[in-house]
Amino acid sequence: MKKNYLYIIGILTVISAVQLYSSCSESKGGTPDNLRPAEAKADSVVTIDTTKIPDGKYGDAVRYGRQLMLHTAYYIGPDGVNGHYTNNKMNCTNCHQDAGTKAFSLNLVTSFRNYPSYRAREGKVLSLADRINNCIMHPHLGKPLPLDSKEMIGFMSYLKWLCDSARVDRHTLGLKNVDIDLPDRAASPVAGAKLYAENCARCHGDNGQGKMRFDNATYQYPPLWGLKAYQPGSSMHRIVKEAQWLVSNMPYDKATHDKPYLTSAQALDIAAFINDDKIHQRPPVKEFQYPNAEEKAIDYDRGPFKDPFSEQQHKFGPFKPIVEYWKSKGANPGF
Ligand code: HEC
Ligand code: HEC
Repeated sequence: MKKNYLYIIGILTVISAVQLYSSCSESKGGTPDNLRPAEAKADSVVTIDTTKIPDGKYGDAVRYGRQLMLHTAYYIGPDGVNGHYTNNKMNCTNCHQDAGTKAFSLNLVTSFRNYPSYRAREGKVLSLADRINNCIMHPHLGKPLPLDSKEMIGFMSYLKWLCDSARVDRHTLGLKNVDIDLPDRAASPVAGAKLYAENCARCHGDNGQGKMRFDNATYQYPPLWGLKAYQPGSSMHRIVKEAQWLVSNMPYDKATHDKPYLTSAQALDIAAFINDDKIHQRPPVKEFQYPNAEEKAIDYDRGPFKDPFSEQQHKFGPFKPIVEYWKSKGANPGF
């Protein structure tokens, strides 16, 4: 009797392990290799072993996708050897660090299963390819990759492989950027300018222009504003979004996710300075975003809004009253 009891508990444990520790890709089904319950650890930070990319044609596509993330400008930039798609010399990895595998750095390990998904910015369901092309068009000022191009196949294969090889469960850390505390005051571009000069200018330059690499093929330090940086409407142009990334990733040589260098308030001030369009020029944009005003991200800075807050407050905060307003309406306000 006792033995049966233990047997049933054993089965239940396996079932719950199957639910908790399935790899990022659910489509692959429950093969034992895919589940690895014994190896997964609670509350571990997401990691990827890129030495395990398989041989063969699929592996070649995965490897090319990874190279495209790391050396975007070299392959598909304005002087790209394999095509001219992006229109600045930034690389995907400048924001999705370590080619999208670094924890808390706009991690892309689960992206393959996150799409197709409804996106408020476009007001429609996007495929993963659409979403990749969004980053090609917005931060990289480029033109969309054709779906059947070697490059799109490479990006998609790489993201699929990341998803298949990741051990992800609900305890996995680093798939999202860190949450920051929202102060009661608005973020201050004036305070941000001072903090920028002290902590960031040594790499990104006094004018946010970044620094080209010795061979002029890409940046050693990417630009933060100016006509070669990301355009308004890129997610990094939103102050809370950028600050969530900054706290665990910048200054490059000082911050880690478990030892942030900037406080939340400092990161918001710096993001306010970087993204203040009255101080800094950026590439012009024509297209209309967030077709449904009530779905706008709280830190998106262009009206009309379906709430009583000004453009100024949506841009710089204080953000808490906006969050509370939407919560009181039963909505789940997003950044
Ligand atoms: C030691 C040099 C260094 C310092 C100091 C530094 N950064 Fe960076 N920053 C980098 C590098 C290198 C990258 C690209 C990261 C990569 O490719 O992995 C980067 C990327 C970025 C990006 C994303 C890409 C872009 O161009 O928009 C932002 C935003 C950014 N840094 C902001 C800051 C801010 C704000 C500070 C100061 C708090 C700062 N950085 C300090 C080296 C530095
Ligand atoms: C200037 C910074 C920056 C650069 C450069 C950049 N991205 Fe992004 N990307 C972002 C931000 C910010 C988001 C998250 C938007 C959000 O949370 O809604 C994002 C989101 C994504 C997503 C969706 C992730 C998910 O699971 O929802 C994909 C895929 C992606 N980027 C691919 C790329 C590729 C490929 C490149 C290079 C061609 C690239 N990105 C370059 C900032 C950047």
